[in-house]
Amino acid sequence: MGKDKFWGGRFEKEIDKKFFDFQKSIDFDWRLAKYDLYHSLVHVEVLKKEKIIKPQEAARLRQALKKILKEVEGRGFRPLKQSEDIHTEIHNRVSRQFPRQAEKLHSLRSRNDQIVFDEKMFLREEAESIEGKVRHVRLAFQRKARLHKKAFFISFTHTQRAQIIYFSQYLLAWYEFFSADEKKLNVFRKNLKLSLGAGAGSGVSLMQKHYQESLRKVGFSSESIEKIRNPLYTVSDRDFLIEFLFILSLLQMHLSRFCEDLIIYSSREFDYIELPEEFCTGSSLMPHKKNPDFLELVRGNTALVYSSLNAILVLLKSLPLAYNRDLQLDKNILFPVLDIIHKELDLLPSFVEKFKLKKDRINKVLREDYSLYATELAELLVRKGVSFSQAHRIVGELILYLEKEGKNLAGVPSAVLRKFHPYLSEEEVKNILNPAYILRKRGS
Ligand code: ARG
Repeated sequence: MGKDKFWGGRFEKEIDKKFFDFQKSIDFDWRLAKYDLYHSLVHVEVLKKEKIIKPQEAARLRQALKKILKEVEGRGFRPLKQSEDIHTEIHNRVSRQFPRQAEKLHSLRSRNDQIVFDEKMFLREEAESIEGKVRHVRLAFQRKARLHKKAFFISFTHTQRAQIIYFSQYLLAWYEFFSADEKKLNVFRKNLKLSLGAGAGSGVSLMQKHYQESLRKVGFSSESIEKIRNPLYTVSDRDFLIEFLFILSLLQMHLSRFCEDLIIYSSREFDYIELPEEFCTGSSLMPHKKNPDFLELVRGNTALVYSSLNAILVLLKSLPLAYNRDLQLDKNILFPVLDIIHKELDLLPSFVEKFKLKKDRINKVLREDYSLYATELAELLVRKGVSFSQAHRIVGELILYLEKEGKNLAGVPSAVLRKFHPYLSEEEVKNILNPAYILRKRGS
């Protein structure tokens, strides 16, 4: 082994300085320090069980690793410049404390095994943390829906006004989307099991039984671990990362669609929603502007999140089994996405709480736009025995007539209505032109 690296014996020349910088990953994989320390803590137990190290040596190594773990958890951890990756970094640090014992720490172990363990453990925690944040977003929608139980809103199809709904129904649609995301994250992390001992991909002579016992000793629950069935598979597999980025892409898509809705609804043309000033910025030129920057940036972030899913698929596309250095780059794909998602989710509950429904404006639209009642009018005829296709046509003709005459449906005398169908009367229409009545009947 070289002085600061895990390899070097068979090399006669020093590594090219610029190439060393090009290939090292410590600048970003230091985020995995905690998980790599756990790998080492388990490995120390295994080496002790296999009598490769003595109990006193194990104690020293454990002591050194726990000291570094404290630094990492206290956020006082700064990687050394010369380490090529986090695995080397931790080894070098142990070495500084107990040089002789450190020489034995990497016995019968490969970084190919370490990295896949580190990533899985990291993702289990990340998925749990994101799941918790999505729950907060979901509950924010629920709280808002409770406050707006009977407020009216308008549903759209093809971005054209469709029917009258409760605003709470609109909000609770997002509640459903985010609870689906939450469930997916939950299932994902529970299925992602940890294992050790794949070596470089061909397995090692240490017993799987000892890995399982050691994992439990270090504190991993039986549900979170599994035996390695095929080490070649274990070190080659990054499907779990693809799956995770897919779930995050779905989540981001939901966030983006919500943002798009609110950008549209808050525009002067719609004017249904008032955005909280705390989440908007102004224009440097036009004094009147209040722009929906928060929503636009979330929508814009979708480009990078979706790209990550594509990037990871392409990264894996032609990789021969088993480990290839290309895999190091999966972290460059993953980490920026996590930073984005966390920031968005941290802001969202407060945004959801603060945006306002413009009730007066909605009620004005409901008074003026009789087309929102067209479906109910057709239903009235259907309930009186008219076939649906006939009812559909009759109401369509009535709407066309009103549009051409520039009239509102309210107040059209029965004599005129009867020309369209004898079952129509001013009285019946008046009943229909009542949002509360319609929604009570619809029962959603
Ligand atoms: N840093 C690598 C990665 O992130 C793991 C180290 C494996 N390196 C190696 N030369 N086998 O995938």
